[in-house]
Amino acid sequence: MNKPVLVSGIQPTGKLHIGNYLGALKNFVDLQNSGKYECYFFIADLHSLTEDFETKEKPGQILNLLADYLAAGIDPKKSTIFLQSRVPAHSELAWILNTITPFGELGRMTQFKDKAIAQKQNINVGLFSYPVLMAADILIYDALVVPVGDDQLQHLEITRTLARRFNSKFGKVFIEPKPILTKVPRLMSLDDPKKKMSKSRPGGCLFLDDNEKDMGRKIKKAVTDSEGEIKFDFKKKPAVSNLMGIYSELSGDSIEKIEKDFKGKNYGEFKNQLAELTSSYFENFRKEKKSLLGKEKELKLILEKGSEKARKVADFKIEEVKKKIGLNF
Ligand code: ADP
Ligand code: TRP
Repeated sequence: MNKPVLVSGIQPTGKLHIGNYLGALKNFVDLQNSGKYECYFFIADLHSLTEDFETKEKPGQILNLLADYLAAGIDPKKSTIFLQSRVPAHSELAWILNTITPFGELGRMTQFKDKAIAQKQNINVGLFSYPVLMAADILIYDALVVPVGDDQLQHLEITRTLARRFNSKFGKVFIEPKPILTKVPRLMSLDDPKKKMSKSRPGGCLFLDDNEKDMGRKIKKAVTDSEGEIKFDFKKKPAVSNLMGIYSELSGDSIEKIEKDFKGKNYGEFKNQLAELTSSYFENFRKEKKSLLGKEKELKLILEKGSEKARKVADFKIEEVKKKIGLNF
């Protein structure tokens, strides 16, 4: 029996933060290593064009994200790693899906609404139909599961709706995919536990590329709640609960164990240990990434080989789709 397909991607728009890691990338690696799925991980370069960018920086952003994937443990021997723009069938399918997507449905997407406010001078059509390309990325591989953070759930829902609508209109070709969330599907910002940690607010981010000193400094500076107890309660103590989430995910300790271990201790002591844990956890990652970034040829080859493999699968599927709608005869 073939394994169920798993697909996910990240946009090459800047440095990854620990929210991206705990909500998505770490899970990519764990799911790959579980051996249960046929995995496709890609770099969503076409999606990234919907934000302002410098042409000359794009190749570096792409290779940097690829190095993040590999240094975190995504393995080209186990997973297909590729560049979205090198598989044209994604864009073809997106166009076809555009024609069955009501305008109003896209206007309700919260990510579109947020980004339209954040980039008022550049509210382009790509930004609006972004979820349709995302649906195509997923449906073209018959993916059953998609690991993402919770900000992508609405996009997964529209993907399911489009699959259903296409199937009932033209005959069954698509599988309805399900999201897979981690225990930390929405890590909050270090400087404001009411806001999601996001690249667009770098002040509250702990970046995977931060050196040991910066990681330590940022954690020690993170806001905390008024009472000094190390106790998990997202409503009453959102800041320390957020930090406990990081601690638990990186150490593998349960929240109960952390509460027990830090009973009677203060925030300072907890933060010191968290700082130590975090910098040592990413030590290998930093070393590995540095070495990978020195091997540009190898990185490009990985993308080329992965893209070639993805193209074969996607090209086959797009023909099936065209047949259903009367274009392939
Ligand atoms: P950002 O919001 O920082 O721009 P992206 O949109 O590039 O991040 O997200 C890449 C992946 O990381 C997506 O799967 C997204 O859901 C996940 N992700 C982003 N921010 C967080 C967060 N704060 N907590 C958990 N997962 C997140
Ligand atoms: N929209 C996702 C994000 O902002 C990136 C993405 C594009 C994606 N296509 C996808 C994620 C397909 C999962 C599956 O992070």
